[in-house]
Amino acid sequence: MTKIAVVGTGYVGLVTGTCFAETGNQVICIDIDADKVEKMKNGIIPIYEPNLDTIFERNIAAKRLSFTTSLEDAIKDAEIIFLALPTPPGEDGSADLSYILGVAEQLGKLVTDYKVIVDKSTVPVGTAEKVHAVIAKNARVDFAIVSNPEFLREGFAVSDFMKPDRVIIGTQDERARKVMESLYRPFVRQGNPIYFMDEKSAELTANW
Ligand SMILES: NC(=O)c1ccc[n+]([C@@H]2O[C@H](COP(=O)([O-])OP(=O)(O)OC[C@H]3O[C@@H](n4cnc5c(N)ncnc54)[C@H](O)[C@@H]3O)[C@@H](O)[C@H]2O)c1
Repeated sequence: MTKIAVVGTGYVGLVTGTCFAETGNQVICIDIDADKVEKMKNGIIPIYEPNLDTIFERNIAAKRLSFTTSLEDAIKDAEIIFLALPTPPGEDGSADLSYILGVAEQLGKLVTDYKVIVDKSTVPVGTAEKVHAVIAKNARVDFAIVSNPEFLREGFAVSDFMKPDRVIIGTQDERARKVMESLYRPFVRQGNPIYFMDEKSAELTANW
């Protein structure tokens, strides 16, 4: 069992959090949308995806899945922090990283012990380096950055997540690599590969 925080409970964050809870982890999902968080706390699911409601309800009932608006409370005990934040195209067409870098700024001030910080958003090559630099400005503890792009398709999100064609784990931190490998092991029992690489190579896989 791993304690996980998922920052950004939209399409990718909610599916990620729910599916990791389903494999026995303790997951807390954070969102700045207080309305959405309140609804989820009351068992109301904000998106429709085949089978998501069943596992959402099962894991809330099992107390493996919870919701909050407080980043500070959510990350306190988490070993892994997933960032599933929006990256809309900015004015020049490139991805707007302000959501991710804004949360990175806060994380740097909040982390008090080793954390594995995982970027699940679709981002340009070099983002992990930027996230690392922003966190490092304030952090007084060791942390690792992982690039773990998500390839799920809307309409097939749960089956794509539970049985991925491949999992990409980009990190140069050996400890984070092991944590991520054991987290994803239950999802690749049928023999689909986990590819390990550095952060930039992982980011490149999402930009093909
Ligand atoms: N939707 C897909 O099918 C899909 C598939 C693969 C990858 N992606 C990528 O995943 C990322 C997330 O996409 P999505 O579709 O889940 O987006 P989304 O808009 O559905 O969800 C993003 C969530 O983040 C929340 N948020 C914004 N700022 C926040 C903050 N500071 N703290 C906490 N929460 C905050 C928003 O309220 C929203 O609920 C994007 O980079 C996207 O390109 C999406």
